[in-house]
Amino acid sequence: MWTSIGFTGSTDTICNFYVLIRIIGHYGVILYEKIIKNSKLFSLIALDFLHPRDYSTGIMTDDIKKNSKTSIPDPKEIEKELGDFLNKKFGGNVKIVSPAILSEKSARDQKSRDAEKTKSINFDLKPKELISYLDQFIIKQDNAKATLSTKICTHFNRIKHLEKTADSRAMMVGGVKSNILIAGPTGVGKTYMVKLIANKLGVPFVKGDATKFTETGYVGGNVEDLVRDLLREADDDIELAQNGIVYIDEIDKIASSQNRIGADISRTGVQRALLKPMEDTDVELKVPHDPVAMLQEMERFQQTGKKDKQVINTANILFIMSGAFGELTDIIKKRTTKQSIGFGAEISNGDEQFNILSNMATEDLIKFGFETEFVGRLPIRAILEKLTEDDLYQILKNPNNPVILGKKLDFAAYGISIKFSDDALKMIAENAYTENTGARGLVNAIEAALLQFETVLPSENVKYFPVTPDIIKDPQTSILSLCSDEDTEKWEQIYKDIVTDEYKFIRSFVDDKWKELSLRHNLTLTQYRIDHVADYFCKNITNIGTSVDMIRFYYDEVKKLEMTFFSHSDINLIFDEDAVDFLIEQFIEPSATFDEVLMKLTSDFELGLKLIQEKTGKNRFFISREALVNSQEFLDDLIRKEISD
Ligand SMILES: Nc1ncnc2c1ncn2[C@@H]1O[C@H](COP(=O)(O)OP(=O)(O)OP(=O)(O)O)[C@@H](O)[C@H]1O
Ligand SMILES: [Mg+2]
Repeated sequence: MWTSIGFTGSTDTICNFYVLIRIIGHYGVILYEKIIKNSKLFSLIALDFLHPRDYSTGIMTDDIKKNSKTSIPDPKEIEKELGDFLNKKFGGNVKIVSPAILSEKSARDQKSRDAEKTKSINFDLKPKELISYLDQFIIKQDNAKATLSTKICTHFNRIKHLEKTADSRAMMVGGVKSNILIAGPTGVGKTYMVKLIANKLGVPFVKGDATKFTETGYVGGNVEDLVRDLLREADDDIELAQNGIVYIDEIDKIASSQNRIGADISRTGVQRALLKPMEDTDVELKVPHDPVAMLQEMERFQQTGKKDKQVINTANILFIMSGAFGELTDIIKKRTTKQSIGFGAEISNGDEQFNILSNMATEDLIKFGFETEFVGRLPIRAILEKLTEDDLYQILKNPNNPVILGKKLDFAAYGISIKFSDDALKMIAENAYTENTGARGLVNAIEAALLQFETVLPSENVKYFPVTPDIIKDPQTSILSLCSDEDTEKWEQIYKDIVTDEYKFIRSFVDDKWKELSLRHNLTLTQYRIDHVADYFCKNITNIGTSVDMIRFYYDEVKKLEMTFFSHSDINLIFDEDAVDFLIEQFIEPSATFDEVLMKLTSDFELGLKLIQEKTGKNRFFISREALVNSQEFLDDLIRKEISD
């Protein structure tokens, strides 16, 4: 019988290692493995007490059983002895943790086995809807948006479609997967776009770096580990993990090149190692060189007496490879210039990198240093363009931009409301552009502009912080002025002016997109509702989607009012759109509760309408805004009309 015990070191100790120990009988300890973990505490000593067994069958013979009764001590005893031993050796810095660590893992395994039969991909989206979703967040990159949305959406819809057919795996055999190669400079939305798509589709997403891969692979060092990571992202749901997206960055760094001697063999090796997973292979969940996985396996074997081989199949996993491919342009230029000799065509240079990369052909990639088989497994190509200074400004202006929202939250944590003037955003975009790191530069530029304020203002009595070009240009003087009581009024006025501009901008932003937003949130955005979306956005730290959802929530409350009124009085009130907006207003402005609004409706309408119902048998009444405002007049008119007729 195998017995396993886990040990862990206490915090802030020197025992920063990971050790697997096997004890034979209670005679001694054999150190199996010792991996130093960068001075952070991490130690786990796993022990198994080797009880005699027949390894070829895993079954204990009678002889062995008999023998084991006499020669094998009680695990508790060993635990104690080991405790003493470790105490002596490590001075109390290592202590035994109960085997619960294993049970927990086993529970996880069980969960993953259960999960096998649970959810699979669950979405109902078409490429165009996905593009419009990306439009909310991503500036420019229209070609890439279309390519990625279409191909990723189709890939998963195809899986969904095939899942319904009897022998879906057989149908996939020989099919070519739409793995994607993305090229474009840094910070232009390559990763962001794929992450957003994965998020929207609800498929797990993992990201790795090709430069970290090795040909042979070790834990954390190859694509199979990324596939295993998908399972974690999928909350141990194997089915879902098998429909995930593996995103590998810096793929251009594993291209072998004539100029690079030596390391090339390994680069080609990494490409080869990727071939199978990119197509269709089974990746084992438990790796032999992962001690924790081994422990889990031992524990399961101990409990069930069975070996359990769990795998993730990669046939449906979408692989997306991404890189800057800066040096590829020369190869493309050379080819296209050669081809066009005599035809007078010219390839432009400089900022036209995007146009050049757009002409990327398979032969260029092979010349660049990719194996034919590798390129062949990446049939879809998406090129992202460099962002201009104005694009960076547009990113900042986008009300869904996480960088600005993040900054608002940072200051709100100290009770300070921050707003950015248009000119300040332009200046930040200008500074970010000089960094030449695409939208990545925006974070640096904002941090550089605001750091001193973030240090000082939380300790001062400052409630409103309007960011203007002056603030960015001269932080020292601005801080003094912001903190002086004399200037408080001035800054508050500047703040108010920015809020007015922001409201106007958001209003027109929502107005421009009212159709898509109405569809997406299943709510007709009337002018009144647009006003409220803008108002809500300006008063809270939020994005447009959440602001529309807020109005949608009140809209649903009004629908609930109709139903509740009907169930109380058997009278069907039907509010027209204006009346709905009037009621929404009651929820927002005087902050009336549901019960308060219901009570007012009941006291205004129930008696009068009941009277009409008794006389005429009618029980459906259309209510306008006017009827809500002047209910008595409305009822008098109605009674006169209905009863006297
Ligand atoms: N086109 C864009 N529209 C809006 N925001 C963008 C855009 N491109 C980048 N960003 C912002 O910049 C951040 C970094 O972008 P992303 O991670 O996509 O860069 P990348 O293209 O993958 O670059 P790298 O090659 O350095 O990995 C994103 O999180 C996002 O906030
Ligand atoms: Mg990236």
